[in-house]
Amino acid sequence: MSERFDGRRRQLMLAGAALTAGSLPLMARAADAVKVGLIVPMSGPFASTGRQIEAAVKLYQQKFGDSAGGRKVEILLKDDGGVSPDVTKRLAQELVARDKAQVLMGFGLTPLALAAAPIATQAKVPMIVTAAATSIIPQRSPYIVRTGFTLAQVTSPLASWAAKNGIKSVVTFVSDYGPGLDAEKVFVKTFGEAGGKVLESVRVPLRNPDYAPFLQRVKDARPEALFVFVPSGEGAAVLKQFTERGLGAAGIRLICTGDVLDDDLMAGIGAAARDVVSSHHYSAVHPSAANKEYVEAIARSNKGMRANFHSVGAYDGMHLLYESLKKTGGDSDGEKLLGAMKGMSWESVRGPVTIDAATRDIVQTVYMRKAELRGAEFYNVEFDKVERVRDPGV
Ligand code: PHB
Repeated sequence: MSERFDGRRRQLMLAGAALTAGSLPLMARAADAVKVGLIVPMSGPFASTGRQIEAAVKLYQQKFGDSAGGRKVEILLKDDGGVSPDVTKRLAQELVARDKAQVLMGFGLTPLALAAAPIATQAKVPMIVTAAATSIIPQRSPYIVRTGFTLAQVTSPLASWAAKNGIKSVVTFVSDYGPGLDAEKVFVKTFGEAGGKVLESVRVPLRNPDYAPFLQRVKDARPEALFVFVPSGEGAAVLKQFTERGLGAAGIRLICTGDVLDDDLMAGIGAAARDVVSSHHYSAVHPSAANKEYVEAIARSNKGMRANFHSVGAYDGMHLLYESLKKTGGDSDGEKLLGAMKGMSWESVRGPVTIDAATRDIVQTVYMRKAELRGAEFYNVEFDKVERVRDPGV
């Protein structure tokens, strides 16, 4: 009884002191953190995506502090395991209803982002999609903003490059779900319009794939090149089978999106990556001072981990959140934050980026890269670029 009374008296005294100082609203606001529900796969087949995102978010807060616009930013990290939309949806629901999260962020794969979209709409909270990359995602909620990329965005420059560089026949090879179907569609259209011939379009299962029989089909079709998209985490297995099945030896050239030659996997892929041409929005050896510092900082605090594009999507997601909180003066109202995010531009470690005000999708440079040895390891070295690429829509 006396403890409760003491507690209440202390509260009143504190409130009185604050009122006298004229600072109660400020004190109350500072104490009231903006909670960010960060939902990513920290376990399961796509755990590398979660690790990369967590590392980037931690680095951002280490570097820029844990508050923005006078509000503390508190990250509530949840592992959704990466494979079940129901789990992601339940976590999003719990975060907004029970934990009072005012922002949702992360989303490692398309089906998981789509599952959470209605929660963002109902709760009126911004949902920053840092990884999932199917074109349609931002159309599923007016509260979605994307800081990663889209498969359509990075595939189209590669298809043009292939046609311009003497490749006449291609087989496409994609994981059979949203981003893969987008990549296939854009490749077939762009390459076809440029005069190239797509001999066959092979789709492989997302879950527990055995790439060998599908690659045998590719070998039998005898294309000049094989275009591949598989999500981050899967590339090493495809390259291993590509080599073991003798596709390279049969003179079939591999071209792919940067997801396949994911920086996080390059050490494991090794020499199988040599000379492979890919297109993407980020490479760990993107030549800028800011990127060099970023890659070194991620490696330093994560046992030598090489930063990949998922980490950069999350680092920029944090930038977008911090800058919008600064613009709203710490107001975390969903509509106000969204208003601040729309149209924002900044210099990312990947190069210049803008959030398109109408689509809430990212506009950015797409780079053509070739895998080469730098020191003891292979890296995706940029040799050409297309600037201000929008998602072409699929
Ligand atoms: C997706 O599911 O949208 C996704 C995941 C990983 C990638 C690309 C796309 O590397």
